[in-house]
Amino acid sequence: MTSFILRSASPAKTKVDAVVVGVVAQDSGVDLASGGEEVGKAYGRKLRPLLSSLSLKGSLGETTRIPTAGVINAPMLVLVGLGATPSTADLRRAAGAAARAVPNAASVALALPTPGAAEVRAVTEGWLLGGYRFTTYQRDTASEATGPGEVVVLSPGARKQEVVTALEQAQVVADAVSGCRDWVNTPPGDLTPPLFADAVVAAAAPLTKGRGKKLTLTVHDEASLAELGCGGILGVGQGSDAPPRLVEITYAPKGLPKDAPHLALVGKGITFDSGGLSIKPAGSMHEMKSDMAGAAAVVQATLAIARLDLPVKVSTFVPMAENMLSGSATRPGDVLRMYGGTTVEIFNTDAEGRLVLGDALVRATEVEPDLIVDVATLTGHMVVALGDQVAGVMGSEEVVAQVLAASETAGEACWPMPIPEEMKQRITSSKVADLAQHDWVRWGGGLFAGAFLREFTAGRPWAHVDIAGPSFASGGPTGHVTSGGTGFAVATLVDLARSLAD
Ligand code: BES
Ligand code: MN
Ligand code: ZN
Repeated sequence: MTSFILRSASPAKTKVDAVVVGVVAQDSGVDLASGGEEVGKAYGRKLRPLLSSLSLKGSLGETTRIPTAGVINAPMLVLVGLGATPSTADLRRAAGAAARAVPNAASVALALPTPGAAEVRAVTEGWLLGGYRFTTYQRDTASEATGPGEVVVLSPGARKQEVVTALEQAQVVADAVSGCRDWVNTPPGDLTPPLFADAVVAAAAPLTKGRGKKLTLTVHDEASLAELGCGGILGVGQGSDAPPRLVEITYAPKGLPKDAPHLALVGKGITFDSGGLSIKPAGSMHEMKSDMAGAAAVVQATLAIARLDLPVKVSTFVPMAENMLSGSATRPGDVLRMYGGTTVEIFNTDAEGRLVLGDALVRATEVEPDLIVDVATLTGHMVVALGDQVAGVMGSEEVVAQVLAASETAGEACWPMPIPEEMKQRITSSKVADLAQHDWVRWGGGLFAGAFLREFTAGRPWAHVDIAGPSFASGGPTGHVTSGGTGFAVATLVDLARSLAD
């Protein structure tokens, strides 16, 4: 566990194992970023030649370690590139890279350009997330360093209440993002729907019991789902030996005014997506353990919102199923009766996400929320359209705008996508059921999916966030985003709840 302390002290005088200072790229070379002035003064005229002999570029996330030999109080100086004109999001990335550059220091001071609350939040989240590791299944990592026990965040605003609060809240958010990553990284055999539901119950336990009670939680098992008539969740789950679940969580803080905003969250929880009978190619199938990233994100966001005591009501719906193939799996041509009665003809068992989400969205409309946001690793089409680091957001204009604004402060890249008129025809092209789940038209599959989901929102304000790309990093770490599950959307959802609360 890392503990954070805020101070407005000089980084040159702070007694820690390592001091992190930013480096900005300039036309004439590089310079220390603000926050590092006192370190610059301590080096005096030796600074310029030192920086130039290191041939730094100052590019974002570039890190260099320098033994200080007593020039400042700390024995090690870590320089981290911030680019030319660092944004708050860049600070988060840089702090993440810096965290990996000093894995074995007992104490670290961050002397970055962090004048106020937003910047302190960014470096705190960045540091914690950049240093994230998933070691549960590794033999030799238990004894390895796990990051510093103490991080001193240096800021001229250290005594301001809003800065103190930002530091505390950033730790809550980073904790939730890490929890989301852990679930996504867990092997799918160890996180089947019943096990995932158990894990959610366990993670929520401190908030569902006793004096700290802030949440109520219900788990619908397969019998309860059958009673409700959740044909989408049951249909997708019926090919697996592990039965499906629907987890519902409510956060309604005591004393909340009657007109307080009510947010409903829905997250796709396919614990493994083989594609079903419309089976996926083998090459990247293992990454489909991440097909529950939306579910993990909405659960962790709900827990964080409760821990932060945000003055909003949140109702969260998490359909969980494993999309497998067997003698009992759904077939192309089958018709499912969704919760609420809409019938859907299956054309491709690999388009399963929309089926579990349809049931859950209708459940969400029944609590009459002011807005609904669903988060899902829904389509490869969105990855083709936006790449693997940007989420597509579609739905009601106002909610889409709110999600985009929240993603901006959270430092998560989102982009608006349309639901064009012609999609209506495509989703109603089944000759036997109310809706077609898929139509084998090659183009616009991500938008088709959005139009399909909209049918289950009862015309309520709603946004759909397709995180198929940014939820999982197949490559190495960059900035605060580590490889494997990224925890994408947790921070955006918490910021959305914050913005509703204001
Ligand atoms: N879980 C996948 C989408 C996905 C793709 C997530 C890549 C992460 C990375 C989803 O269930 C799926 O298989 N979608 C199909 C939809 C198609 C059959 C309409 C797809 O994208 O090909
Ligand atoms: Mn699929
Ligand atoms: Zn899927």
